[in-house]
Order: sequence, then C-alpha cells, then structure tokens
Amino acid sequence: MHAKFITVEGIDGAGKSTHLAWLAGFVKERGINAITTREPGGTPLGEKLRALLLDKNEAMHLETEALLMFAARREHLDKVIAPALAHGEWVLCDRFTDATFAYQGSGRGADWERLHELERWVQGALQPDLTLLFDVAPEVGRARAGRIKTPDRFEQERDDFYRRVRDGYLRRALEAAGRIRVVDASRNLESIQQELRGIMEPLCR
Ligand code: TYD
Repeated sequence: MHAKFITVEGIDGAGKSTHLAWLAGFVKERGINAITTREPGGTPLGEKLRALLLDKNEAMHLETEALLMFAARREHLDKVIAPALAHGEWVLCDRFTDATFAYQGSGRGADWERLHELERWVQGALQPDLTLLFDVAPEVGRARAGRIKTPDRFEQERDDFYRRVRDGYLRRALEAAGRIRVVDASRNLESIQQELRGIMEPLCR
C-alpha cells in the first residue's frame, strides 16, 4: 500500500480542523504512520508567508495572493509532503490547491486557467489521493467560525464572498469528481464521522 496524501477543504467554519484531527486518530488506530500539516504554512518559510497572507493590514493584489499561496505550497511540497510520502508516511493536510481555486479564483476573481498553469508548474502530476470537501452554507460557517476567534483577513469577508468560495469548491469537485468527495458538513458530528469511516476504511486496507 503506498502512502496516501489526503487533504481536507471547506469554507471557514465548515469544521475541517475538527474532522482532520479525527481522521488523524482514525488512521493512527490502524497502525498507519501519518503526519498532519496545513496550508498556507507547514514549513518555517510557509508559516511566515501565512502570517503575511492572513494579516488584515496587508492589502495585496489578488494575483500576489495566489502566487504567495503557490510559493508556500512549493516549499511545503519540497520540504514536507514529498519527503513524507517517499518515506511511506501518510500526509493529512488542512487545505491545499483546491483552496486556491476556491478563494483566489472564485472568491477573489483570479483567472481559473492561470491557476491551472500554476498548479501544473508547482505540482507537476502530483494530486492528493483523496480530498474531503466539507460543504456548508456560508451562514452556517460564519456562525461556527465566529464563536471561535477574531477574524483574519479572509474571515472578515462577507457572505457573498463565501458563497463564491463555496461555488468554486463545488466547481473543482465537478472537475475532479474521482478525487474530491463532497461531505455535507451541516449534519451532526456523528453522522459525518460515520460517512468518513465508510470513505476511509477501504483506503486503509
Ligand atoms: P484556515 O485553514 O481556515 O486556518 P484557521 O482554522 O486557523 O483559520 O485559514 C487559512 C485561510 O487561508 C483560510 O481563510 C483560507 C485561506 N486560503 C486561501 O485563501 N487560499 C489557499 O490556497 C489556502 C491554502 C488558504
């Protein structure tokens, strides 16, 4: 069994961090070595880029934003993701390239085809083995995220931005239907975990 690269996606407040922690426990219980990481970030340089990207006082061109996301990703692939997979460790990643299409593409309006070019440039043929897209309405995401912490540069955006982000994710899910599984994240934790068990069991065998 080759090491799997699994990413989790969704609008802010969709609950992906909670589900990622649960997935990490699930694979570890099955004796699988896995690392958990995140984007933007995951490396010292990537975390510096993350701080810039999330800083509310850092206004930037939408393509600058997209390029910084891919710059952080290039570093992350080189320093963390590819080495882990090469050593047989699974990689569970909180957000990856689908987020760039959803947020910078659909949300901000960066050209979708240019993002495809950057994706090919930075990743070559590498894609996650599985992406879990936790799908909720922006109102639900906002209500959940708002309880947790003060908003960062993305979280201060309005519901119409998040509607576009959600649509962008669903467009990606149509483009890569074999890889991306859309999970209705408006349900309770138990029924979501039951669905996740059904998706993950065959992968872990
Ligand atoms: P997030 O992963 O939600 O972390 P936290 O739970 O700490 O808020 O925050 C990262 C933010 O970065 C999120 O608002 C989405 C955004 N983002 C993009 O806009 N494009 C990307 O390519 C990635 C990876 C993230």
